[in-house]
Amino acid sequence: MSNPLGHEGAALNYSRIAGTGAHLPPKILTNLDLEEMVDTSDEWIRERTGIAERHIVGGETTCDLAEVAARRALDAAGIRPEELDLIVVGTTTPDQVFPSTACLLQARLGAGDCPAFDIQAVCAGFIYALGVADRFIRCGAARKALVVGAETLSRITDWTDRNTCVLFGDGAGAVVLESADAPGVFSTHMHSDGNYKSLLEVPTGIGSGFDAGRAFMTMRGNEVFKFAVTTLGRIVDETLAANGMEKSDVDWLIPHQANIRIILATARKLGLPMERVVVTVDRHGNTSAASIPLALDAAIRDGRIRRGETLLMEAFGGGFTWGSVLVKY
Ligand code: UT7
Repeated sequence: MSNPLGHEGAALNYSRIAGTGAHLPPKILTNLDLEEMVDTSDEWIRERTGIAERHIVGGETTCDLAEVAARRALDAAGIRPEELDLIVVGTTTPDQVFPSTACLLQARLGAGDCPAFDIQAVCAGFIYALGVADRFIRCGAARKALVVGAETLSRITDWTDRNTCVLFGDGAGAVVLESADAPGVFSTHMHSDGNYKSLLEVPTGIGSGFDAGRAFMTMRGNEVFKFAVTTLGRIVDETLAANGMEKSDVDWLIPHQANIRIILATARKLGLPMERVVVTVDRHGNTSAASIPLALDAAIRDGRIRRGETLLMEAFGGGFTWGSVLVKY
């Protein structure tokens, strides 16, 4: 990894969001469709999760979704693929074991030979990817970075399990970060605790002798819910304290879109009215690493989020992994 600015850590660089993009596959699966598949109801799903519908891939792969979102983000940033010097993709549903989805995407975009790699941090994948890309830019190792969250969770969903199948969907979102002489990204925070594997997992994989009959998400939803609410409350405090900021300094909360009740709890913790919280979970369910960039892009494109406003993004997911990013847009 070359450092165009000399030695690591010397440059006082920040990263800023230059452009965003998103993509949902066209096929929609509604709560009413799910009523035909498992013992559930539109009323239960809406009340307990806030989800009305989700988008599901037909033949598309994670990289197909990522490519559309990435091209939209590059267009919005006015940056050509060959100008990129870093590509990071947060995904738990890569197209192949290898090459990484980031490498597949790099070739599709014609992005030259910059470093490209995936990050597997499940629902916190986009926050982790943004955190890593921000560090590359801060230390002078990159000036323009493509950060993507993309998933085809429908491929690891057990469509006979009502505890999980009503929750998840497919999609992709992307952000182009570029170096700047002022924030931009104020701080990024990443945590994991591997002791909670059994609460949320896909209990098979290549290294343990892949068993296709077990390649589905399993979750003890209620326990995950309680842990998520407490942990996200803590990370709000950690993020504000790290920047010497008050709750009132935050203009927008862009939370991981898993469950409206978790989002409401974090908004309450911040003292933010729901008009300042970006909610898209109703339209696409939990899309794991894609959910924050999907929400971010929606609120930027419809004009709610404006340049100069302070955004708090936070996520919690399998691992457990969790994290946040505080950024001036
Ligand atoms: O994104 C990463 C992390 N994941 C999350 O953040 C998800 C966290 N968890 C949740 O969002 C919620 O726990 C769920 C939405 C998954 C479940 O909501 P809950 O309020 O925690 O419900 P529960 O699991 O305590 O179940 C309540 C009842 C149960 O019936 P009994 O035992 O009370 O008779 C379930 O069997 O709801 C039943 N149930 C359903 N009923 C209708 C569970 N799934 C369904 C369903 N339709 N789809």
